[in-house]
Amino acid sequence: MSGSRNNICLIGYMGSGKSTVGKELAERLGMTFRDTDEIIVESQGRSIPEIFREEGELYFRELEHGLVQSFAEDERLRDTVLSTGGGIIINEDNRRLLKKIGCVVYLRASAQSLYERVKGDEGRPLLNTEDVYGRIKDMLKQRSPMYEEAAVHIIDTDGLSVDETVKAVAAAAGYDALK
Ligand code: S3P
Repeated sequence: MSGSRNNICLIGYMGSGKSTVGKELAERLGMTFRDTDEIIVESQGRSIPEIFREEGELYFRELEHGLVQSFAEDERLRDTVLSTGGGIIINEDNRRLLKKIGCVVYLRASAQSLYERVKGDEGRPLLNTEDVYGRIKDMLKQRSPMYEEAAVHIIDTDGLSVDETVKAVAAAAGYDALK
């Protein structure tokens, strides 16, 4: 666990299962689930594609960074599983600050399995392209070292069920018994 805080931060590419695993994990550990994308959508009153379209990616990244900063400063934030947007690790400060929030677990997956999970989904502006698989491969090449730098633990999720992934994250984060 990171410092005195028992939070768990999930990082990983789009479609890596952060929200699904995070919700299940929070429920089974009796923790609160929070999601940076959801918080941003609620505070902005518009969807992620709308924010990207109307304000641009940079604006979204600033909102993300502001959130990470405020969570990192909030010593009262406990018992929380925080699922993060796939691009949160692009910001160098975020890679460091996430570790202040809690135990950072990277849900790693292959381009192929990520592609299977995100294809046909229109809620992700960065994958709004003809060659989704090619885009995923390119982005992973660029981002993989950043995910790895930000992570304290890495779970290879290919071939794991949600239940197995939840258990692996809990064990990595030092929670031996799941409810
Ligand atoms: C993004 C991932 C998305 C969302 C936005 C940008 C990215 O979150 O934050 O579309 O840059 O990888 P999910 O990883 O939850 O899909």
